[in-house]
Formats: sequence, structure tokens, C-alpha cells
Amino acid sequence: MRVQCLVDNSVQPSSSFWGEHGLAFLIEADDGQRFLFDTGASGAVLLHNLESAGVDTESIDAVVLSHSHPDHTGGLPALLGRRTGLPVHAHPEILRPRYSEKNGVRTLMGLPWSPDALKRQIELKLSESPEQVFPGVWTSGEIKERNEPEGRSAHHLVRRGEDWSPDPYRDDLSLVLETDAGLFVVCGCCHAGLLNTLLHVKDHFGEDPVAVAGGTHLVGAGPEQLAHTVSRLRELHSPVLHLNHCTGPAAFVALSQAFGERVFHCPAGAMLELSGGFQALS
Ligand SMILES: [Fe+2]
Ligand SMILES: [Fe+2]
Repeated sequence: MRVQCLVDNSVQPSSSFWGEHGLAFLIEADDGQRFLFDTGASGAVLLHNLESAGVDTESIDAVVLSHSHPDHTGGLPALLGRRTGLPVHAHPEILRPRYSEKNGVRTLMGLPWSPDALKRQIELKLSESPEQVFPGVWTSGEIKERNEPEGRSAHHLVRRGEDWSPDPYRDDLSLVLETDAGLFVVCGCCHAGLLNTLLHVKDHFGEDPVAVAGGTHLVGAGPEQLAHTVSRLRELHSPVLHLNHCTGPAAFVALSQAFGERVFHCPAGAMLELSGGFQALS
């Protein structure tokens, strides 16, 4: 199985990939099936980067969405323009309207279509429980136990009638890949929290994950939370970390200092080979 970072805030030096504030991974199973985990923020970047990766949009077999935020779902309309009827896996709460508050103004954010329009265009597969996408590839299901810090942003809100409250991010899910070397977790924004996500995977899949790739939403974490994260990751046998998107520079430095060569940056274009151990190929 291979995982390639398709869209990220940063790109591999000297590559032809484009960058944007967004995230998408391409996962390729050993039998050749391909699917996307998230779609980046825009169709222009997603389609350009798929072309750079030498991937025909017709060859994409499915999409998994980590959550509704537009930096993860914004490329979906362009993909569906080229590839109709695609199965799309997500948590049911992904359909809930969400808002971003800036300077006292609340703006609707989230999926690029209304739920009804979305259901007409794709084969929507919604589940709170872990779902097998392909053999050896699972969604995490909803991360319900959240005793460790979550990856929150104060300006993300949901609405019930006239009541506004912080977005609980119930739709946030990750991917779990069963590989020869163990469980490999791919995160979107990790709003449920990196530690909560890893502990959930351990509970539901029966093993400590051996590697993680993606956004970990440690961007707002202070020194105390980062020290706690390091200490708890050690208890989880120090998984290899391929970090990008909303991890944040301070977290990247803290984790690199703690775990040395087990920590990699994962920009758009980075390819991870998952058979026979975890290695950054390029
Ligand atoms: Fe994000
Ligand atoms: Fe997000």
C-alpha cells in the first residue's frame, strides 16, 4: 500500500505540485485500487496535483472525507465533474451546517453543496462506526472518548435555533490502514485531538498505531500541551510521524526534538511506502 500527500500547505522542493491551505492524500492499495482521503481546498490545486502525480481522475475509486471544512472538501466538485457517482464515505454529522466567526460576523462554511444536492451527485456512505473502504482500509468511525486535548478553533460554531455553541466536531474521523508493519493512521485536521484519535484506534483496532500522517491540529498547543503530547506518545510506543497541514511549527519542532528521526515533514508530493516498514520515499 502506498500513501502520497497530494495537497498540503507546503510542497516538496523542486516538485511540480501546487500548495494551498488544505489537505488531500492519495491511497493506493496493492491491488491497484485508489482513493482520496480529503480533496484539498480547491479543484484547481487538486486536479493539477493529480496530474503531477500521474493519476487519471477516472482511476479514483472512492473518497473519504475527514470532516466538512472547506480546506478538506473544496476540491470535491471539480473531481465529481470528471468522475460521477463516486462513493464518498463520511460521518453523518458532516451534513450539519457550520459557521466561522470573524470580527463578529458569522459565515456559513463546510461542504460545497447542500446535503440534498450532495446526495444527488454522489453515492454518500455515512457512518458513525468504523467502515471498511477497501480490504485493509478503514475509517476510524467517530472518536467519542475525548479525555485528551481536542484540536479546537475558537471561531468554529454550530447553531441550534437561536443558540450558538462551539463546534463539537463530531464529524471528525481519520483513516486506519492495516499494513504489514502495523496500523497506519492518516488524519485530516484531527479536531478530535491526536491523542484521542490514537487511543480510539488502539481501543477499536486492538493495537497501538505504528505511524501517523497528516494534520494533527497542534497549531494552537502551548509548551505544556506539547510536553504532555510527547509524554503520552511515548506511552503509545512513539509512532512514526509524517506531519503537515495544521500541525504548526512549534509542534513540529517539539516532536522532532523528542522523537528525532521518527518525525518527517509531509508536504504535497511526499510518497510513503507502507509495505515492509515505514519509510519516506521522497
Ligand atoms: Fe484543515
Ligand atoms: Fe478543519
